[in-house]
Amino acid sequence: MSLPPPSPRGTALITGASSGIGAALARALASRGHGTTLVARDGDRLRRIAEELRGHGARVETVEADLTSRAERAELRARVERTGSTVHILINAAGAATRGSIAECDLEAELGHMELNVVSVVDLCRTFVDGMIARNSGAILNIASTAAFKPMGGQGTYTASKAFVLSFTRTLRLELRETPVTVTALCPGPVQTDFDRRAGFTAEEIGAIPSVMWKSADEVAAIAVDALERGAELCIPGRANMVDATMALLKAKQQASQAVSR
Ligand SMILES: NC(=O)c1ccc[n+]([C@@H]2O[C@H](COP(=O)([O-])OP(=O)(O)OC[C@H]3O[C@@H](n4cnc5c(N)ncnc54)[C@H](OP(=O)(O)O)[C@@H]3O)[C@@H](O)[C@H]2O)c1
Repeated sequence: MSLPPPSPRGTALITGASSGIGAALARALASRGHGTTLVARDGDRLRRIAEELRGHGARVETVEADLTSRAERAELRARVERTGSTVHILINAAGAATRGSIAECDLEAELGHMELNVVSVVDLCRTFVDGMIARNSGAILNIASTAAFKPMGGQGTYTASKAFVLSFTRTLRLELRETPVTVTALCPGPVQTDFDRRAGFTAEEIGAIPSVMWKSADEVAAIAVDALERGAELCIPGRANMVDATMALLKAKQQASQAVSR
């Protein structure tokens, strides 16, 4: 088993736990007896989910924080320690996107999303990995996307941010290979959450995605927890999404071989 077992002080710190995949991961871990620390901006939603999770009998803490703020991230470790918890599992699920071409995008919004999708992932991994190494136990799950494998028009910084998360996660795993700390990249395809609506996709655009690609947040969370328990490097929920990612990798490989032969 690569997932640290539940313990009285151990907690799974889950960012983006106020909705979607983060909330589903919190439910999946709490139902297995893990203490959880739920992080997001919306305190009311966090408290509602915490109330629900306490029904499983596991310890639950909430921490309201805007992870685009370096100052708020800098306080996170101390805020968690004040609850008496130690981060044994770190899940970076918070993420956001906007849509629009690079030439016409709202630069401030894009930079904010890069701070959340990219910089905060590096920051939190750096902040909590030391303790895991010192305790000889820990697991990190970073949420990338199948968007990490290919360019997608209108989502320039989002696809690039997820490619970064995937590459960073694999490198962190490589660096920790002599330790018992495991590092896993989760690359979902389309998931039934608020994400697309928040990103500004229309119902028509969302409806055009083939139904075979969609997963529920609960399905993705169950598959991800299984991957954490196996200490897997990469987890792509669903066969259709695995095929989609494989096709994108094959195309990149073909482009690389053509570039070399010129
Ligand atoms: N849904 C999909 O189709 C899909 C596919 C592949 C990958 N993903 C990835 O999966 C992850 C979770 O997405 P989701 O589908 O669960 O979306 P979601 O339901 O919109 O959840 C996003 C979470 O991120 C939090 N968040 C956003 N901005 C934040 C900030 N500045 N500070 C702190 N927390 C913030 C939100 O909470 P607050 O608003 O309360 O702060 C919310 O809990 C993301 O990284 C996303 O890129 C999603």
